[in-house]
Amino acid sequence: AADLVVQLSTSLKTKPDVVDFGTVFTDHMLTVEWNANDGWQTPLIRPFGDLSLHPACSALHYAVELFEGLKVYRGDDKRLRLFRPLLNMERMSKSAERACLPAFDQSELLGCIKRLIEIDQDWVPHLGPACLYIRPTLIGTEPSLGVKKPNRALLYVIMCQAGSYFNTELSLWADPKYTRAWKGGTGDCKMGGNYGGTLFAQLEAGSYGCQQVLWLYGEDHQITEGGTMNIFLHWINEDGDEELATPPLDGTILPGVTRQSILDLARKWDEFKVLERYLTMGQLCSALKQQRLKEMFGSGTACRVCHIGSIVYEEKNLQLPNQDKHSLSSRIATELTDIQHGRSPSDWTYLV
Ligand SMILES: Cc1ncc(COP(=O)(O)O)c(C=O)c1O
Repeated sequence: AADLVVQLSTSLKTKPDVVDFGTVFTDHMLTVEWNANDGWQTPLIRPFGDLSLHPACSALHYAVELFEGLKVYRGDDKRLRLFRPLLNMERMSKSAERACLPAFDQSELLGCIKRLIEIDQDWVPHLGPACLYIRPTLIGTEPSLGVKKPNRALLYVIMCQAGSYFNTELSLWADPKYTRAWKGGTGDCKMGGNYGGTLFAQLEAGSYGCQQVLWLYGEDHQITEGGTMNIFLHWINEDGDEELATPPLDGTILPGVTRQSILDLARKWDEFKVLERYLTMGQLCSALKQQRLKEMFGSGTACRVCHIGSIVYEEKNLQLPNQDKHSLSSRIATELTDIQHGRSPSDWTYLV
């Protein structure tokens, strides 16, 4: 980070008022090249622009690539804060190892990202829950069609404005014929190949009038993730105890930063059981029938916490309990927002 070379843009863009997520990017980007002989090269912050890639490069052919997603928030005190960014750096390192892409120094990368945010800080929205989304990306740039560990790579970071993109309650479509991830696969890493393959099922969910896919796994239809969110059930469990439960990190689940934070908060509150356990559609249907389900919600950086209103499953449209101000998701959303915007002091925030 101390070696950063900065080339400032001479024509700054006008910042739009409202944009679709991920369509308008800030004025600058970070790029760092790597090759097997010389290692990481000097990091560069430069005007946002296209990349030039060899047509045979391994990211384009074999999806040798990974990414991260985190946000920077403008606090009520006007200071800029990242939320637990070291967890993103750690997850990115694990994805890099699994993708056979080079290891990097997590705190040095965070230092480079901090400088990029400082340069484009006017892009962090001043009002409401909107914030700036940061997309670190690492791609294999080996200019060869051989299926092998790349000898060249490019790490880059781009940023765009983001609202909270699921504002209403979610409807999910659950059909075991599609699988997002499997044991021994790469579902616990944030690799592009995990996402492109889900679009087809996402379209089918739309044809049932649903917004996202509820991803099931195995013969017993285990609940794993919803769209690109981790899933939580707040319910009275089979033994009659109040419980907050989410599927365990068994390799099929992305270890979400929001998921971890919800577990940490709920364990600190110590008001009900908090478990990482397998959850099946059968258990969910019984709980619904016996009125033991209090709430089902998804979690992720994009939406923080998102209430789930209904699930289409086995030709039935399951209506889930409504959200109100006493729902656990509302309490968690408030607590997280207060931390992210600096209203509640917390060692989870990293000042830019
Ligand atoms: C598949 C998947 N699950 C869960 C999440 C939530 O992770 P996080 O809370 O770190 O955003 C994401 C986030 O992008 C995701 O892509």
